Amino acid sequence: MPHAKIAGTGMYVPEHVVTNFDLQKYMDTSDDWIRERTGIQERRFAGRDTETTTTMAVEASKTAIERAGITPQDIDFIVFATLSPDYYFPGCGVLLQRAMKMREIGALDVRNQCSGFVYAISVADQFIRSGMYKNILVVGSEKHSFGLDFSTRGRSVSVIFGDGAGAVVLQPTEEEDRGILSTHLHSDGESAESLAMYNPGTHANHWVQQPVADFNPAEIGDMFMSHSMIDKAQNFPYMDGPAVFKKAIVKFPEVIMEALDANGLKPGDIDMLIPHQANLRIAQFVQQKLGLSDDKVYNNIQKYGNTTAASIPIALCEAWEAGKIKPADLVCLASFGSGFTWGSALLRW
Ligand code: ACO
Repeated sequence: MPHAKIAGTGMYVPEHVVTNFDLQKYMDTSDDWIRERTGIQERRFAGRDTETTTTMAVEASKTAIERAGITPQDIDFIVFATLSPDYYFPGCGVLLQRAMKMREIGALDVRNQCSGFVYAISVADQFIRSGMYKNILVVGSEKHSFGLDFSTRGRSVSVIFGDGAGAVVLQPTEEEDRGILSTHLHSDGESAESLAMYNPGTHANHWVQQPVADFNPAEIGDMFMSHSMIDKAQNFPYMDGPAVFKKAIVKFPEVIMEALDANGLKPGDIDMLIPHQANLRIAQFVQQKLGLSDDKVYNNIQKYGNTTAASIPIALCEAWEAGKIKPADLVCLASFGSGFTWGSALLRW
């Protein structure tokens, strides 16, 4: 039975570098605090008027498509993962289809935040296994810089995120021990409000009866978007950092072990682990738990921050470009994030 292999990877990060020292100009924070808690030294921010989530995706996709040895007209399905779409609707998939002058192919948007790329890969793999499509473009792209609170009020969230895009082309392979071996997806909505952007939305306080931290739903009207929401900064993401940390360090190793067990493999068989770049401390904890050496885990959060759905494809592309992923290597992609959702994909390069 055919399954998918990664035929090409691409990435794009904006030119504009924003260091921790730059952020100090807008909020009460420090390079030491950010480095120590997250590992981040700098991130990239997209051009205000010149770049969008979709335009960055176009750049990453061009490279992935070229490396796969095909043209945009050969792509027969798009799966686009993002939490920062150009529009509330339609999704970025159709904007990418238009911008790259592709045929009238299907375009699916995936809203699984930090796990978006792993979910997208899994969906694309199933389409290839079923024989429905032969060239699928899978993209993760984020323009976080447009939706963060850069005042001291928002510092615990805004210092973490950066902009960028990554893409891969999936094609069928008949080689049994190569390509995507298996994918594993999970969710637990119990803590949906622990890492979320509530507004704009249609919830009208239905789900958030119990205020979390400084979020007070009683102060919000029933409206989709109101002046008071903006005045109270309730249109920015909320994160209960310690709750996310505690769950992430359990679920990351668990879902990696699930992938290894499903294929009769052990942590020592992994040649390269590419964890979602949530936070360097989380990645280091996972590395330690699995007993992996430094050369078996790829981290680049230090220079790009957390780029959510884009972080895995960016890291995958960079690791491959640096020669750290070689043919027949066992590569594990793993993610955890808002939802909570988490997942893994195990592949033989
Ligand atoms: N600069 C300086 N001080 C800050 C900043 C900042 N940017 N942000 C918060 N602080 C302060 C707080 O106000 C608090 O001050 P106080 O003690 O006077 O009240 C103090 O630092 C400690 O705050 P905590 O929130 O307890 O800090 P913590 O040690 O938990 O670190 C962090 C926060 C880094 C968010 C941590 O909880 C964490 O790593 N959580 C995991 C969340 C994560 O990685 N999210 C990534 C995005 S989601 C994903 O991709 C899965």
